[in-house]
Order: sequence, then C-alpha cells, then structure tokens
Amino acid sequence: MNFTAMGFKSNQAVADTQNTQDTQDVDLLQCDSEYLKVCGLRAAYGDVGVLHGIDFSVAKGQIAVILGANGAGKTTTLRALTGMVSTEGSIRLAGEELVGEPTAEIVRRGVAHVPQGRGTFGDMSVEENLLVGAFVRNDKQVRSDIAYWYQTFPVLGERRNQPAGSLSGGEQQMLAIARALMLRPSLLLLDEPSLGLAPMVTRFLFEQLKASNAIAGTTMLVVEQNAGLALSVASWAYVLEAGEMVLAGPACELAVNDKVRRAYLGY
Ligand SMILES: Nc1ncnc2c1ncn2[C@@H]1O[C@H](COP(=O)(O)OP(=O)(O)OP(=O)(O)O)[C@@H](O)[C@H]1O
Ligand SMILES: [Mg+2]
Repeated sequence: MNFTAMGFKSNQAVADTQNTQDTQDVDLLQCDSEYLKVCGLRAAYGDVGVLHGIDFSVAKGQIAVILGANGAGKTTTLRALTGMVSTEGSIRLAGEELVGEPTAEIVRRGVAHVPQGRGTFGDMSVEENLLVGAFVRNDKQVRSDIAYWYQTFPVLGERRNQPAGSLSGGEQQMLAIARALMLRPSLLLLDEPSLGLAPMVTRFLFEQLKASNAIAGTTMLVVEQNAGLALSVASWAYVLEAGEMVLAGPACELAVNDKVRRAYLGY
C-alpha cells in the first residue's frame, strides 16, 4: 500500500524534508534506509487469516507505534516479527530476511519482544530473569547492566532474590522491559506496555523507554492502547484495522488526524 496516496509522507520523505526542505513524496516501499522493512505480511491462525498483506517500516533509531482496535492484529504483527505465528511475506531487519527463521535466531539477531501481559518467568527470581534476558550476550557488561536496572527501578534491586511472580503488575512490567533491554537489542518490540498500570507508573516506564532510545539508539516498535502517550513518544505511527494498515505518518500528524482523534484519543 502506498501511504503517500493518503497524504502522508514516508519516514525517508520526512527526513528529506527536514534536511533539504524538499517536499516531494517518496513511496514508502522505495526506502532502502529502513531498518525494519515489512512487505506483504500475512499471518494466520490455522485457516483464519489475521494479517492480510501489510506493509510498514521503522527507521533505525526511531520509535514507531501501531494503534488499532481490539482484535485488529497488533499482537499478531509482533508475533509474526518474532516467528511465533505462521507467516508469509517479507520481514527484513538490516536487509536480512527474518521470515522462516526460528524465534531463537531472531532473538540472536537482536530482536527483543515484551509480550502482552506479563513477560516474566514467574518461578525464577528477579535477577535470574535479568540474566535470562542477556543469555545470547558474551560481553563483560552484563553485571553492570543489571546494576543499571536496579538503579533505574530500585524495587527490582530490593527484590532481586524473590520470584518474579510475587511482584505487583507494575513491578513485573518494569522487570519485563528491563529483561528485554538486557539483550541490548537492536529492535525492541513492546506489546501494550501500559496495560493494567497506574498512570504514574506508565509515564515513568515510557520515560525509561525514551531514555533507552536516546542513549542506546534502540529502535522500537510499540503497540499501545494509550494512544496519546504513545504518539507523544513516537516519531512515526501506523493504524491497523482488521488486518490492514489504513494510515501511516509522522506521530505528530496522526495525533491531529480527525479519524485518529475520534477513534483513539477520545475527543
Ligand atoms: N492463538 C490464536 N488462535 C486463533 N485466533 C487468534 C489467536 N490469537 C489471536 N487470534 C485472533 O486473531 C485476531 C487478532 O488478534 P490480536 O491478538 O493480534 O489482536 P490485537 O490487535 O492485539 O487485539 P488487542 O488489542 O485486544 O490485544 C483476533 O480476531 C483474535 O481472536
Ligand atoms: Mg494485542
């Protein structure tokens, strides 16, 4: 699908506009600078098709968000990216095809996934969860990264020896995000990070995500019901409806789009 037909410019077009004031639109699919580039992605559970050939991309170092109603296929999109659902089409990460690769190989290539709900191992301790997050790393900074997360989320340090399952919902979500970032991922996929969290905790988590993006340059693709917050941290946004991408554009433009305002921002 060519999003420029809907009046939005591609990521590259926005960059070009910022750099050269050249306002000429560029077809999204012609952009080779995209770090994650998804073309014609289909996914199904058995005979039931959920994603019907979607195209989207995320530029390196960018935070992109996917908005969509319940059942639109947002979680399925993230599952497709990590090889957890039957998939057709193309998913290229830094030019390399991921479709057909097992989940473990996709993780090895630097993709971390915080799934919807609690992405922690409940029977394992907080510290063991963080160590599991770093299992493909062989550098010497794993311990200092754990110390960083204990400093960022002090409650995790205080409870380092407790089973993750004994933490509160918000604490488990902090652990899930810290565990995913322990991979030092090049691409972080987050599925509804704010689900069930108090507004203050949600804001704090998003601040930490923004900081990781700024400090480590981690590319992020976020699925989020809190559309206002997600659009405020993301630079690019997509709207998924019934397995089709129907809108794409700079997050600041989608935030003032009438359809997005009515459906996702509630005013
Ligand atoms: N394991 C499964 N088996 C069969 N159908 C599934 C499975 N998981 C999801 N579906 C169906 O696929 C469709 C898309 O589901 P998905 O979880 O991707 O939606 P979503 O956009 O993440 O929704 P929500 O906002 O409620 O999390 C829904 O119709 C759902 O019922
Ligand atoms: Mg979902």
